[in-house]
Formats: sequence, C-alpha cells, structure tokens
Amino acid sequence: MDNLSVDHLTGIKNLTENDIQLIFKTADAFKEVINRPIKKVPSLRDITIANLFFENSTRTRLSFELAEKRLSADTVNFSAASSSVKKGETLIDTVNNILSMKVDMVVMRHPNPGAAKFLSERVDARVINAGDGTHEHPTQALLDSYSIRERLGDVSGKKVVIVGDILHSRVALSNIYCLQKLGAEVMVCGPTTLIPKYIGELGVKVEHNLQKALEWCDVANMLRIQLERQDIKYFPSLREYSMQYGLTKDILDSLSKKIVVMHPGPINRGVEITSDVADSEQAIILDQVENGVAVRMAVIYLLASKIKRQ
Ligand code: CP
Repeated sequence: MDNLSVDHLTGIKNLTENDIQLIFKTADAFKEVINRPIKKVPSLRDITIANLFFENSTRTRLSFELAEKRLSADTVNFSAASSSVKKGETLIDTVNNILSMKVDMVVMRHPNPGAAKFLSERVDARVINAGDGTHEHPTQALLDSYSIRERLGDVSGKKVVIVGDILHSRVALSNIYCLQKLGAEVMVCGPTTLIPKYIGELGVKVEHNLQKALEWCDVANMLRIQLERQDIKYFPSLREYSMQYGLTKDILDSLSKKIVVMHPGPINRGVEITSDVADSEQAIILDQVENGVAVRMAVIYLLASKIKRQ
C-alpha cells in the first residue's frame, strides 16, 4: 500500500507532492462513502483519537470529530477552557496523562507556533496539527487545494490570490506551501502592514491593489482580519479596510472572467466579503467545509495505517 512519507502531520512544509496526491486520492474514496446513505466504514475500529483544542474552533473541531466517527474510531474530546491546564498543568503532562488511557492519535489546536511538532517529538502517538498559532493549518490547506481541484479539475497551472491578513494567518502559510507543491502560482494581496517582510522568500507575488490581483487570478481566497492576534493597529479602521480589500459583487462582476471565491471561515460578512458574494454560485465556501471531512478522514486513515498494532 502507498503511504505517507511522514509519521505526523505537523505542517504542509514537510509533505511531498506525492503525499498530497495520495491524501487527495484517499479523500476521493471517502467522499464517495460520506455521500452514501450509510456514511460509515469500520476501518479504524481499534483506534482511539484525542481531540485537544487549546483554542476556539467550530469547523475544524466538528470536521475532525465527524471524520473520526465516519471511520469508526473511538474519540475523546478535550477543551482547555474546562481542563486542568487552568490549574497549571504543562502540555506534555496533559497529553501524557491522556495517552496513558491508551490513545493512539492526537489532533491538536494550540495558540503557540510549533506546538504540534514539539508534541510529536515527545509523545508516543501520531500527531495532527489542527492549527498552531500563526504558523500552519495543514488540513485547511489540503481541503482548500482539494476543493480547487474539484471545481477547476486541477491545481497545477492555476493562479491563486490569498487576500487579507497574511501576517497573522496560518491558513495563508499552509496554502502557499500546498499550492506551490501542486504547481499553482500564488499571489498575496493586502495592506503593506499585513504582508510579512519575508514573503518574497517564499516565491509568491505581492499586489496591494485588489482589483489588479483579482484580474490576475483564477481563484481568490479571502481571509478574515484576525483582530484577536493583533496587538497594535495595522490599518485605520475596519471600514477603510473593507473599502480597499472587501470583495463585493460589483468588483466580481467587473472582472473579465469568472473567478472562484474561497474563504476558510469564520466569515466576517461585510468586512472581507459581502453576503451576496459569499452566497453566490462563484463561492465554494460550503464545498470547502464538506470536503474537509473527506480530507481529514484521509489524513487520519493514512497516519493510522502507520501505527504498529500489538
Ligand atoms: N477554518 C477554521 O479553522 O475554522 P475554525 O477556527 O472554526 O476551526
């Protein structure tokens, strides 16, 4: 059987193109399963997975839980807000206590960049990064590229612009790695203050004018302004940001071609995207959410196949 070149999914940076294509091929099979009347397979009946969320989440958390249930894995859920982390327990102690209850895999969202890799080097379980601070969100990037492939037939050769708060976005970095490995051209667009200075080293184009960026692209991935990660003001006001970088129906209709519109969620309607764009047939936002379950099933299934059963 084909398998991944990695034992953990801590980021897209250390995946090969073959890894990503294998995840997509496996997700194709699981997408067929989750559209059947009985949406479940018995593949992981002997596997226990802990979902550890040290940060808020709606889509990622529910999507992982559903993916695990569809694969018949046993799951336990942990939320930092109601745990003994509040009493001063360390990350490693918390996880090792959970693992001593015979857990095979950990899905973790954590506010600190590098937390998933740190954990993967210290505990005896497969680790999946469900978002680590401003660093990476690998399963989001995989489901985003999978959704582009589904809508446009291929990712290779496509032009994708990521618009908004690139500086604070783990989605942007994982998408840049994933899209480039699959042969897409990537541009970032936003105010100078929200584009990191090192971005040129990643081989992406930079454009500060939204209209020009949209004329260039086949796909626009609109990101939320991450106010919760901003310690200082990066632009005068949300209203001014929205006037310069918000995607409206008028802008979309003024373009010379029909582009695909994406958003990882949660959406701030009326800021980075208007409601009529988010709900238009050019937007694949809910397809992204649906594909997330199949893609996460694929990742969990492929990593679980590397667990040595006694
Ligand atoms: N896209 C995403 O990561 O959403 P959540 O924060 O709701 O999981």
